[in-house]
Amino acid sequence: MLAQTPPMGWNSWNTFGWQINEELIKGTADIWSDLGLLDAGYNYLVIDDCWSEKERDANGLLVPDKYKFPNGIKSVSDYVHSKGLKFGMYSCCGSMTCGGHPSSFEHEFSDAKQFAEWGVDYLKYDYCYKPYGIPGHLLYKRMSLALRNTGRDILFSACSWGSDETDKWARESGTHMYRSTGDIQDNWESVKNLFLSQEHKASLQGPGCYNDIDMLVVGMHGKGNVALGGCSDEEYRTHFSMWSIFGSPLMIGCDIRNMDEVTKEILTNKEVIAVNQDIEGRGAFSMNQWNNPNVKMYARMMHDGSIAIGMFNLGENKGEASIEFWDLGIPVASGYGLKLRDLWAHEDMGVYKEHYRCELEPHCCKMLRGYLVKD
Ligand code: GLA
Repeated sequence: MLAQTPPMGWNSWNTFGWQINEELIKGTADIWSDLGLLDAGYNYLVIDDCWSEKERDANGLLVPDKYKFPNGIKSVSDYVHSKGLKFGMYSCCGSMTCGGHPSSFEHEFSDAKQFAEWGVDYLKYDYCYKPYGIPGHLLYKRMSLALRNTGRDILFSACSWGSDETDKWARESGTHMYRSTGDIQDNWESVKNLFLSQEHKASLQGPGCYNDIDMLVVGMHGKGNVALGGCSDEEYRTHFSMWSIFGSPLMIGCDIRNMDEVTKEILTNKEVIAVNQDIEGRGAFSMNQWNNPNVKMYARMMHDGSIAIGMFNLGENKGEASIEFWDLGIPVASGYGLKLRDLWAHEDMGVYKEHYRCELEPHCCKMLRGYLVKD
């Protein structure tokens, strides 16, 4: 089954935009495993918009850009597969892609066949230039059926930005993940606002179809296509933790060929990734910090009976964060407490009863995993 857990990988858009080519894709595939990304769970390498010529050929087929991909797409796909990775491409449900390239409207079944022949394992499907008279869900149903009938397992990644109440129809329309937000930018305001926009939708996750809050900007440091300001390393850590507790797909957006040590440490934190990838795929529920609306706290039940907890200070001042175990479903009368582990420090913190409290610096977070214990 596809998307049993939130899909993980890398996508060219956030850093490279339209400036993609065979050398970049091969170079990215070359270094992937050495960085520990495959081992951490990232396996889809996805080429985003602007990979094709501006016109289809005489038979109505898509044509790869002859300068960017002089050897065609199949050879790139074979190369990516030879590195143990899966290969993803991009199209759109409207009359043109967002970048003005040919799109799959009224070509759904032939394009799906072409993608399958190229060995595509993942299709990101955008919403630009959507014909007004046709509901989006129908266009996604078309491509979903087209992909499902190619004879190849192709993960279908909807990119309709939450338009037309995407979350109400994405699962039934056969998508495996669906964008619920506008495009991310590499700065703190954008990360914070995307997170807040999904505050009340964090419980909708489930195996087979995941709410995608957009690709990661971790490690971009103000360089690239959506880099408008950049974030600090602490903000990237918070961003990665938010996406993880929300169960969003984790698609890396930085240039991994030039990744620094801190970025690598963030993106390959297996304990945080394990929260994101929990096999039950349960959504997160929120808890309030009674005296500070800038402190957000979420918890998620894990398949092994433990509880993952994310505590985030979105404000500009230091803030207290306190989890009352009552809000997790652990009343004092039960006699149970939580043996807590800090997932960024990789340390056991001991057993807590009734509550756990800490101070969070501005834009910082705590990621914890709690195991129920009774003494
Ligand atoms: C839209 C999508 C982005 C990216 C661009 C490509 O804006 O939301 O993620 O795919 O199109 O043009």
